[in-house]
Amino acid sequence: MSRDPHQLLRLALAGAGDIEEWRLGDPALAAAKGFPRAYPAGLIDDWGIVFLDLVVEEGTGDLVCHEVNGPNAVGSDALTGESRGRSRNEARQTLQRLREMGLLAPDGSLAGEPVVTLHAHQHWKAFRTGGEFFPRVAAYQEALETLIPGSAPELRGAHEALGDETLSVVFGDVPQVAAHLHLDEAAGCFTYRGRPVAFIGNPNLATELARAGRLPMRTGGLPVAARRVFHAWRLLDTVRDKGVQQDLLLGTGMRPLKYFEADTREEALRLTRELLARGPVVLKPNAASGGAGVHAVVAGMTDGDIAARIDAVLKDCVTKYGTNADATALPIRGFEFVRSTGYPLAGGGHLWDLRIAVLFEPGKAEAFPISMRLSPAPFEPGGFHLDRDQWISNVSGRQVTLLKSGMDDEALAAVGLTPARLEEAMEGCVTWTLKAWDAAARGGGPGGSVFEDAAEVEDPAFYPREAFRG
Ligand SMILES: Nc1ncnc2c1ncn2[C@@H]1O[C@H](COP(=O)(O)OP(=O)(O)O)[C@@H](O)[C@H]1O
Ligand SMILES: [Mg+2]
Repeated sequence: MSRDPHQLLRLALAGAGDIEEWRLGDPALAAAKGFPRAYPAGLIDDWGIVFLDLVVEEGTGDLVCHEVNGPNAVGSDALTGESRGRSRNEARQTLQRLREMGLLAPDGSLAGEPVVTLHAHQHWKAFRTGGEFFPRVAAYQEALETLIPGSAPELRGAHEALGDETLSVVFGDVPQVAAHLHLDEAAGCFTYRGRPVAFIGNPNLATELARAGRLPMRTGGLPVAARRVFHAWRLLDTVRDKGVQQDLLLGTGMRPLKYFEADTREEALRLTRELLARGPVVLKPNAASGGAGVHAVVAGMTDGDIAARIDAVLKDCVTKYGTNADATALPIRGFEFVRSTGYPLAGGGHLWDLRIAVLFEPGKAEAFPISMRLSPAPFEPGGFHLDRDQWISNVSGRQVTLLKSGMDDEALAAVGLTPARLEEAMEGCVTWTLKAWDAAARGGGPGGSVFEDAAEVEDPAFYPREAFRG
């Protein structure tokens, strides 16, 4: 096998606590298992990627999804040790945008004013995925160079000025990139340091601009050309709204979680009490990531205890994102707590989740399992809400012992994921993506559900899914 050109960088960052998802990569095993798996996706008319975090529920055996992540998420290295397919997908979208912006000559070369593409990573203090992020930016630069002959894309850090190049591939952390990113309402496009932007990889840049009061949180009213340069494009609002994500799970074979949305602390307390009647509740801020502001509450807590947790949801966001973060942390949402099956380790069963990626392009989707993340401490139903290590899987560090490959049959079997269930899960993830795309593109009703979905909620046997399997 050829040498990993990024090994030095990856090892250096791993020494500082970086997550080593790239170590899980096994191209031969992926090929043997037929991953990525291709699916037809006639509805889809653009490029992108989503990541669904799934569990099998203890007791019911239901497949449940905690969260759908957008193109800021990490893990694509876990299949083969690199993410060139993802980088090519990003570059293909960029090429299409350049064409739409009138910046490509008939011979396919760059023509016109200098243009910028943006890759932003998590705020530095929370950033632990550099071993995947930086090589992916390099692969994106290479892919652009191949797709656009003579374009000579220049890498630029967000801390530095742009040069006399016509195509700048800029990377840096979200606040630093956002500081130079502006929506030019008149031109209907984003500019970075005064140059038009053809690609924005990280949807959290939109949230960062919203925190600063420079963009509305919901992007539906923005000029279409500006929204299109996000890699998340049609799904830009969906990947930042964990409530809509649950609505869209109807009819995918994954059970949607009950949830509420609250615009005030008082409403959050009242609705939490209501939802607690069904079991423990997970509170989450709007449009955050990396576990920030996620808290569990249980029925035995006093109103004062719960109110303190609601305050903590907001306070955590300010700690991570800065003083303006309360503006985007609302609405607070509460979700039913899902206990996954236990992953057996010496001290007891650990909660876990499995991330599945769906990489798509016009007419086609590819799904593949990424990694299983185990919570660091064994789960104790009595007191888990007081110990984040018992139930939060995306914590810092994620030592190799707590990270399993999504191709590790033994690890999957240990939590009840047979090959057939994994297939079912991947198919469900593709269906979610199609539904989300359709809902965003055509306004597919509230939350993107259709008559069959509502009927299935009333009567689970209404829609015989098996009958439609090929
Ligand atoms: N409904 C839930 N039930 C049980 N655990 C959950 C639930 N939602 C989230 N978690 C745990 O909390 C972690 C963080 O929540 P998530 O919604 O993924 O937030 P983030 O956007 O910060 O990654 C998840 O990785 C999972 O381990
Ligand atoms: Mg998550």
